[in-house]
Order: sequence, then structure tokens, then C-alpha cells
Amino acid sequence: MAEDLYIPNDASKREKYESLLPQLKGLIEDEPDQIANMANIAAALKEVFNFFWVGFYRVVGESLVLGPFQGPIACTRISYGRGVCGTTWKEKKTLIVPDVDQFPGHIACSSLSKSEIVVPVMQDGVVKAVLDVDSDKLDCFDETDAFFMEKLVSLLNF
Ligand code: SME
Repeated sequence: MAEDLYIPNDASKREKYESLLPQLKGLIEDEPDQIANMANIAAALKEVFNFFWVGFYRVVGESLVLGPFQGPIACTRISYGRGVCGTTWKEKKTLIVPDVDQFPGHIACSSLSKSEIVVPVMQDGVVKAVLDVDSDKLDCFDETDAFFMEKLVSLLNF
């Protein structure tokens, strides 16, 4: 496919995700390098939705290690069970945090981040990475974001 995204400007959030999904599938399915694929997923979510921060942390040994991302610099390593990302790794399920100040142990990479969603990237029941998306607005993420972000990360093949 061409390296341009085509997303209708006046589309709803669901319509934007529905348009984005097959385009990213086309970009990712023949590319075996998962770093490249994570980079394009992060870039696409940033481009289409202009979230404050979009990125991946990969499971490397006992830590999550910062991977491809779009946005300001961020913390490099997160331990198992720590913060929203480490909790998602531990619980193996998507976490939606409407107000990061209300999440015990939230790791504030930026004081501008107000709400957050973290989606596990699973392979054979094992968490290989997490997708972390931050917004500078409170209560930015809902089940539609969770549904489509889970679909997007299922395109990855570790
Ligand atoms: N807030 C995350 C840390 C990563 S940054 O948001 C990029 C957490 O609590 O795990």
C-alpha cells in the first residue's frame, strides 16, 4: 500500500478506527519486523487522533522497556505491576484510566497527561508488550478505543 493514510475528516471516532484498521493491516501483514510495525501503529494513532503520547513498551526480562513512540520523551523502564503499564502486564487486560491522578501508583512521565489507556499485546497468552496512549484531556478513552486498539495490536506478531 502507499505510505499515506486516508481518513475522512468529518468521520466519527468509530469510523476513523474502522478506516484505519484495514490500512494498517495492509501495511503490517507482510512486514516481519515488529519494531517497524509498532512504529507505524504509534504514528498512525498520533496522526489520526492527535493523542498527547502514543507508544509501546516491550517486555524485556523483568521490565517493560520503552519502544517505538510518538510524543515527548518518556520513562525508559517500568517494573512488573508498577504504574498503569506494569499493572496491565500483570492483569493481562486493557486498563482505561479516566483520571490518572486517581490511579494509585500512576507513573507520571508528563504532568500534562490526564487520562490514559493501556492495551496488552498478547501472543499465546503471554504479554509481549503494551500499547500506552495518553491524553491531555480527562476521560478521553472509552470502550470504542479499547476495542479498536486491541484489534490494532492483534496485527502484531511477536
Ligand atoms: N503513565 C504510565 C507510564 C508511561 S508514560 O505515560 C508514557 C504508567 O503509569 O505506567
